[in-house]
Amino acid sequence: MTMEKQVPIVTFRTRVRDESISGPNPYRWEDKTTDDYFSGKRVILFSLPGAFTPICSTFQLPDFESLYVEFKKNGIDDIYCLSVNDAFVMNAWGKSQGLKNVKLIPDGSGEFTRKMGMLVAKDNLGFGLRSWRYAAVINNGVVEGWFEEEGFGDNCATDPYGVSSPQNILKCLKAPAFA
Ligand code: BEZ
Repeated sequence: MTMEKQVPIVTFRTRVRDESISGPNPYRWEDKTTDDYFSGKRVILFSLPGAFTPICSTFQLPDFESLYVEFKKNGIDDIYCLSVNDAFVMNAWGKSQGLKNVKLIPDGSGEFTRKMGMLVAKDNLGFGLRSWRYAAVINNGVVEGWFEEEGFGDNCATDPYGVSSPQNILKCLKAPAFA
């Protein structure tokens, strides 16, 4: 018997723009739960070692952003990018990338990543605890496709990237067995 993997129940502390707040920083805290992100939709979640890092900023995030329409055509309602970074860092990264499509999820405490079994030490880079690079197709909170980079482990000397690329996931979504 295979067990269905469900996303863990977690509350994320996000920062959202609020026009009723005056001054140079019109943002307030807004808690969002796993349910808010995953209930009643089929989404892609991709998770990476850090905002502003080169592969994530040059390839993975911008490629998911530009292939968004293609994902929508293939039965995906939303694309989420998660990192063990706080909401301020994630918002600054989103702004610098000019994001319109991909939504960023700040997992600052690493709770979601830990409960997904994907938290690794990156002390070799001075990062502390971060997410291993992976992606998943998640349907109403249930993982239906899993794309984990090889070599999972603490203080990995390399940063493999391929399996969790949007191009690879799209190819799999288009395959008759997945669709
Ligand atoms: C990168 O995405 O390029 C990267 C990720 C983690 C550490 C260093 C670089």
